Amino acid sequence: MLTPEDIQAKKSKKQKISMVTAYDFAFAKMAEAAGVDQILVGDSLANTMLGYKSTREIGMNEMLIFAAAVCRGAPNTHVIGDMPFGSDANPQLAYDNARRFMDVGCSSIKLEGVPEGVIEFLRSKDIPVCAHHGLLPQTAENFKQKGKTEEEANAIIAAAKYTDSLGCFEMVLEHIPETLGTLITQQVSAATIGIGGGKFTDGQVLVMHDALGMHPGKIPPFATKFVNMYELGVEGFKKYVEHVNQ
Ligand code: KIV
Repeated sequence: MLTPEDIQAKKSKKQKISMVTAYDFAFAKMAEAAGVDQILVGDSLANTMLGYKSTREIGMNEMLIFAAAVCRGAPNTHVIGDMPFGSDANPQLAYDNARRFMDVGCSSIKLEGVPEGVIEFLRSKDIPVCAHHGLLPQTAENFKQKGKTEEEANAIIAAAKYTDSLGCFEMVLEHIPETLGTLITQQVSAATIGIGGGKFTDGQVLVMHDALGMHPGKIPPFATKFVNMYELGVEGFKKYVEHVNQ
């Protein structure tokens, strides 16, 4: 299992880091068998697994059920627990919740933005932290690319550098211009993981449902569908129905 130090060593050696979301035992097993470096139990599971419109609709208790299942399915992979909306509202609450992720087997936690005093407190308690900059789905007003204006780009750079200085070992850069993803990657010691951040970040993350084509609809412009599991699933179920009806 890769440690936070191993992840940073990969950056130093210019080896790419592969991260994917997974939310349950079976898919975590597949991701581990495929050799992904890290699995993110993203709060995107509110949308992908539970059908909610917003990631704000999921809380710690639900996240922990999924995180524990993923840790059971991928015992040899670095699993990241994604702090859901409100779970990091103050340093002590964030620590208590981060601890709960670590207690079910996660290797680190991820949080969006720079909640006041939280990263400092988590690092003082030795919790490995993955930051998240650019588009922040928990608080975003829309899902358009961020960092297109100079002012927005500067704010993202400042936040990335600040979380780097606080000792985050890694940071997700979501839906920002490639030039900005590249610049941040060059200026921080944390490993940068892009999702719509261009091809020059230290690694990439994709939402499992986009990568595996689990939904019939559109996927974000920066995502790639590597297989069409939705079609395979419907085909499989149809065969089953035919078999039962014979
Ligand atoms: O919750 C999630 O899946 C994420 C990724 C988009 C990085 O935060």
